Amino acid sequence: MSELLKDKIERLRAEAQNLHANTAEEVEALRQKYLSKKGDVSLLFEDFKALAKEQKAQWGASVNQLKQQFESQIKQMREDMEAKVQTIAYKEDLTRTPDSIGLGARHPLSLVREQIINIFSRIGFTVADGPEVEDDKHVFGMLNFAPEHPARDMQDTFFVEKEEGVQKPTDILLRTHTSSVQTHAMIQWAKQLQSATCNLQPATCETFQPLRILCPGRVFRNEAISARAHCFFHQVEGLYVDKNVSFADLRQALLYFAKEMFGPDTQIRLRPSYFPFTEPSAEMDISCDLCGGKGCAFCKGTGWVEILGCGMVDPNVLESCGIDSKVYSGYAFGMGVERIANLKYRVKDLRLFSENDVRFLEQFESC
Ligand code: PHE
Repeated sequence: MSELLKDKIERLRAEAQNLHANTAEEVEALRQKYLSKKGDVSLLFEDFKALAKEQKAQWGASVNQLKQQFESQIKQMREDMEAKVQTIAYKEDLTRTPDSIGLGARHPLSLVREQIINIFSRIGFTVADGPEVEDDKHVFGMLNFAPEHPARDMQDTFFVEKEEGVQKPTDILLRTHTSSVQTHAMIQWAKQLQSATCNLQPATCETFQPLRILCPGRVFRNEAISARAHCFFHQVEGLYVDKNVSFADLRQALLYFAKEMFGPDTQIRLRPSYFPFTEPSAEMDISCDLCGGKGCAFCKGTGWVEILGCGMVDPNVLESCGIDSKVYSGYAFGMGVERIANLKYRVKDLRLFSENDVRFLEQFESC
């Protein structure tokens, strides 16, 4: 028994001389290994208790000495560790300029959308919102799209299945343009018209205002994704309905927009076009700001770049929304935010706008 105890004491004494720790946690682990209730040194006392009386006298001092040795070693290690931590803290330079915190940037599409809204809000337009998931009636039907119009085709429109996996014919779809918001607004406006009590021009009637809205939002078209097309993009469309609204009003509003957006020297040109919901319809070009209208690779030598579609609201559309087309007229226009952002920032690949690559995004203003 005493031989065994002797061996244990010798071994532990050697270990006590070689204690090593790098962190406060490691010191605590050593304390637990040797000095806790079930620790190696504490267990030694169990062996000691079982010794005969005369042997106790022989070994008592050695066991106690060993315990004290561990205690003072560990205490010393603890103090060394605390001193080390304090030295590190002392070495920190509290006067150093802190590392800069990376500021987020505004998304270029948000910047451009806000700029468009700001420009038109200065001439009385307010923002109207509407759902992205729509029915056929608000996206096409009431906007004078013939039942067999190709835009309703599966090629262009994402239809929403009513029951998962069951492809029944459905009239629920993802809006292909924000003109659907205009439909809702016109229906709403017509209801107000009916309940309005005064017969004055809306513009001069206190209880009634003309309909003058901007409809920004995301739209969806079933296109193959490439550098030049995506299955979703962003639009800002505008609508103005009142008495005596003319094509000259439309042209003037768009000229004002073009000059505010692209600079005071910007020229516009309206080319005849076709949209089911406007008559007459036009496509608007602005003078190419890269070559000043002389012709370059960007404008394909023409001096002009196309930026939006517009026209006078077709009387059929006004009537289908409950507005008397003999009394009221209106104009509408619609532009792609990506297209305008492209012209401002010359982004060659449309996909960059939705990929969230920080290297692309951080090039834009942060506020
Ligand atoms: N809704 C048309 C489109 O998405 C744009 C447009 C709006 C054209 C209003 C004319 C008038 O392409």
